[in-house]
Amino acid sequence: MTADDGPPADTYFTERPRSRSSRRELRFLYRGELLSFVVDRGVFASHGLDPGTAHLIECLEVKPRDLVLDLGTGWGALGVAAAKSAHAGRVVLTEVNRRAARLAEENLLRNGVSNAEVRVGRLFEPVGTETFDVIATNPPYRAGRELILELLAGAPGHLKPGGRLVLVGKGSQGIRFYQEWLEEHWAGPVRVLGRGSGYRVLEATLAPARAAPAPAIRRRLRRG
Ligand SMILES: C[S@@+](CC[C@H](N)C(=O)[O-])C[C@H]1O[C@@H](n2cnc3c(N)ncnc32)[C@H](O)[C@@H]1O
Repeated sequence: MTADDGPPADTYFTERPRSRSSRRELRFLYRGELLSFVVDRGVFASHGLDPGTAHLIECLEVKPRDLVLDLGTGWGALGVAAAKSAHAGRVVLTEVNRRAARLAEENLLRNGVSNAEVRVGRLFEPVGTETFDVIATNPPYRAGRELILELLAGAPGHLKPGGRLVLVGKGSQGIRFYQEWLEEHWAGPVRVLGRGSGYRVLEATLAPARAAPAPAIRRRLRRG
């Protein structure tokens, strides 16, 4: 690189993008409700809803009381949609890109979402030891395999018993590799929730907690 090359270009996961802002509005329909978003340059899917994210949103079932983590939220499409379904629950949206995080915050407000919050930080850092019913993500494949495997390996520690990791990806992003990795390492069933246009939505469910034995059974077990 020479001095004339200037600073390296932003990636969508640059912490503080330098590209000139060029905000625009977009909308999409989620289960009968028209959602409205502001998007900008320097963030993922700055021109419109990513087709992988659209598949994920379509396949993802969120219950009204669920606690949901939208990891790597971008401008917040998935997090806003999840918060609409989890209307008696809560959603945490995390992001490393500060411009994206600000957009996600703005987009929660635009859509009247009060049961969700945006936190800035890497992977599970912003949620400490919190656990969720659902972790949903369109992961940052371009950040590299090591990071994605760190995400997959870290997910069980942030799920409640019976909780689900739901992720989307396509062939060129290595989704078959990650599916096989999950099938080998995940403590519970892994299935394909949906597929289309080269994308797969995977769901990995953590085994439910074993119920503690009733007191009488416990006494018998102690006596042998
Ligand atoms: C493929 S994009 C998906 C964005 C958004 N969920 C969507 O579907 O439109 C992945 C997002 O993860 C963010 N990201 C990258 N590295 C991350 C990390 N280490 N921890 C959390 N988020 C990260 C990126 O900035 C980007 O917004």
